[in-house]
Amino acid sequence: MSQGRVLLAVSGGIAAYKIPDLIRALKRAGHSVRCALTPAAGRFVTPLTLQTLSGEAVRSELFDPAEEGQIDHVALADWADVVVVAPATAHLLARMAHGLADELVTTLLLATRAPVLVAPAMNVNMWENPATRENCERLRARGVWFVGPESGLLACGWEGEGRMAEPAAIADAVERVLAPPSLRGETLLVTAGGTREPLDAVRALTNRSSGKMGFAVAREAARRGAEVVLVAGPSALETPPGVERVDVETALEMREAVFRALPRAGVVVMTAAVADFRPAQREQHKIKKEDLAEDAGLTLELVRNPDILAEVCRTPGTRTVVGFAAESRDVIEAARRKLRRKGCDLLVANDVSRTDAGFDTDTNAVSFVWPGGDVEELPLLSKAQVAAHLLDRVEKLREERA
Ligand code: CTP
Repeated sequence: MSQGRVLLAVSGGIAAYKIPDLIRALKRAGHSVRCALTPAAGRFVTPLTLQTLSGEAVRSELFDPAEEGQIDHVALADWADVVVVAPATAHLLARMAHGLADELVTTLLLATRAPVLVAPAMNVNMWENPATRENCERLRARGVWFVGPESGLLACGWEGEGRMAEPAAIADAVERVLAPPSLRGETLLVTAGGTREPLDAVRALTNRSSGKMGFAVAREAARRGAEVVLVAGPSALETPPGVERVDVETALEMREAVFRALPRAGVVVMTAAVADFRPAQREQHKIKKEDLAEDAGLTLELVRNPDILAEVCRTPGTRTVVGFAAESRDVIEAARRKLRRKGCDLLVANDVSRTDAGFDTDTNAVSFVWPGGDVEELPLLSKAQVAAHLLDRVEKLREERA
């Protein structure tokens, strides 16, 4: 248990009624908690409740001499190991994105050097508004952590995304933020997404991989202090904070990018769904039906792409290499054969026939298949959690070898 100092910044949203539960969860985990309120927060949850549960004086005024006398606002910002903003209203996110310091909470957020975790809560239309989207993107790019929001019935009567994450989920996220930088000094090379193999000027062969699993591994590795090179097939996903991203389109481009980064990588995690074949030739112009006989079909000739993972495994070095296996039947046996064929240190087997796991989902159900034949089956988890389990194993493997 990390036992950190949590500065809980509460803004004025109805979800503030859940903050007493959050304080309880944080205290149970062994953390010290101090609360700071925006001017509107006290209308949704009383300072006295927060004070009683946290066991600390609650601050709500920037320039109140009595409050400043107890602990001044800069000292409070310095005290925190992590600042949690819950609930984070659209207005507060906007003020954060613009670096305003117009009252106590925004001033603390600007003054602190601690990581910041926000738990947004608002009406679904406010959450989806491009202004809020842009503000969140800006904050993410600055390294602000997000937990939620979740989907469901909202206090305003609308249904959709905008509910604050549950206190237990926020407390879990605090643990992740406070975790020690266990991969500092290590460089991870991660491949993600599907490749796109052009057929003519407008068409391509590709697959359904979203890249979410690989991006989650990259995000988690960066959070653990690693330098991360993320070689990504076409994907609209946001680059995780602190990650060096190399965008590629085809398997051949991916291979080139991987081998360029390989000399500095101590750990390689290949989640990409690489196309095994590519069109033998790429037509320079669009293939036109009028150039073919009436009713004629079209036969494509495909040639093999290189197996990047197998080539990496054959490249001499002391790196740890993790492969993924997308299987739709006899998952474990097929994964065992794949592990032997490719020669990696660990293979993560994915059952892509499930609808709640695999391609383009936020959750994944995987098994870790080890070279000795052992299999560890994980329950259905978020891709972020799978990434955390995976890197725990990688760290252990590195320790055992050191
Ligand atoms: N892989 C790779 N290069 C390829 C194909 C796959 O680097 N040309 C990597 C993937 O990133 C993954 C692992 O190999 O880590 C297994 O990928 P998968 O698609 O499951 O297996 P394939 O080797 O393509 O075998 P098959 O499609 O026959 O199951």
